[in-house]
Amino acid sequence: MMTRFLITGAKGQVGQCLVSQLEGKGELLALGREDLDISCRDQVFQVIHEFCPDVVINAAAYTAVDRAEEEANLAQKINLDGAKYLAEASHQVGAMIFHLSTDYVFNGRLTNPYVESDVPDPQNVYGQTKLASEIAVRHFNPRAFILRTAWVFAEQGNNFVKTMLRLAKKGENLAVVADQIGSPTYAGDIATAIIQMANRALTDDDLFGIYHFSGFPYVSWYAFAERIFEEAEVQNVIKKRPLVKAISTQDYPTLAKRPTNSRLNCSKIQQVFGIQPSDWQRALQNLQGYERNNAMK
Ligand SMILES: NC(=O)c1ccc[n+]([C@@H]2O[C@H](COP(=O)([O-])OP(=O)(O)OC[C@H]3O[C@@H](n4cnc5c(N)ncnc54)[C@H](OP(=O)(O)O)[C@@H]3O)[C@@H](O)[C@H]2O)c1
Repeated sequence: MMTRFLITGAKGQVGQCLVSQLEGKGELLALGREDLDISCRDQVFQVIHEFCPDVVINAAAYTAVDRAEEEANLAQKINLDGAKYLAEASHQVGAMIFHLSTDYVFNGRLTNPYVESDVPDPQNVYGQTKLASEIAVRHFNPRAFILRTAWVFAEQGNNFVKTMLRLAKKGENLAVVADQIGSPTYAGDIATAIIQMANRALTDDDLFGIYHFSGFPYVSWYAFAERIFEEAEVQNVIKKRPLVKAISTQDYPTLAKRPTNSRLNCSKIQQVFGIQPSDWQRALQNLQGYERNNAMK
C-alpha cells in the first residue's frame, strides 16, 4: 500500500521542497493556503476525513516574526489553532503528524546550544504561538513529531539569502547583526529529514517527540552574509562584494525581540535517525537558482 501524505502550506519554502521530494513516491495531497486554510476548522476536518492520510506534514505557518507583534491574534489563529485542528483531525483518522517549530521558543540566554529538554521561554509573539502549538499538537495527537528548526532558506520564498543577493545587486553597503548566533538551515534538508523520519515511524511507533534539526556550523547573521557574498562572487552572481559592517542587535532595533543564542543541538536526531545537520554551505553552491527566483519577482 502506498503511503498517503498530506502537506499543508505547500507553497512555502519547506512545503515546496516536500512536494518536489515526495512527488511520485506515494499518494500526495499538497495544499497551499488557497486550497486549505488551516485556521478554518471545518476545512481541516473535511480534507483530512476525505483523504485519510497516513502522514500529515504541517508546513503552513504565520512566519512574519516582526509583524506578529502587531497581529498576535492572526498569528495565534494560524500557528496555534490551525496546528491544533490538524492534530485533532489527524488523530481521528490514525495519521501521524509532523509539526515545524522554531529556535525562537528559547530565550537565548543559555551559553550552550539548546537541547530538546531545555526549558522554553519565548521572547516574542511568534515564538509564543509556536510553543503553544507544540504543546497542543502533542496533546491532540500523541503520534506527533515536533521538528524545531531555524533560519530557513531555499531557492524559493522570502529568506535571508535572497534578501542579501538583492541588496548586493543594488550595490549598497550593508550592516548586519553579528551578535545573534544560530544555524542557517536549507529547506530541502528539512524535507529530506521529515521524509526519512516518516518512513521509519510507519513501522516504529516509539520515536515520536520533539527533535531539533538545523544547520552546521553555527554562525552569526553577519558571518552568514559574508559567506553568501563570498560564494556569490565566486559563482559570478554579483560583480563586487558589498562592504558589510558588523553591528549589534542594539544597533538594529526590531519589533520582535530575538534570542542571541539561537543554536540548536541536533544530537538527538542524529542518534535516533542517523540524520546529520543541514550542510547549509553546500546549499549555497547553486546561488544562480536563488537569483533566478529573485529576478522573477
Ligand atoms: N522561515 C524560518 O526561518 C523558520 C525558522 C524556524 C522555524 N520555521 C518554521 O518552519 C515552518 C515552515 O517555514 P517556511 O520558512 O517554509 O515558511 P513560509 O515560507 O513562510 O511558508 C509558510 C506557508 O504557510 C502558508 N500559510 C500561511 N497561513 C496559512 C493558513 N492559514 N493556511 C494555510 N497555509 C497558510 C503561507 O502562505 P502565504 O505565503 O500565502 O501566507 C506559506 O506558503 C513553519 O512552521 C515555521 O514556523 C521557519
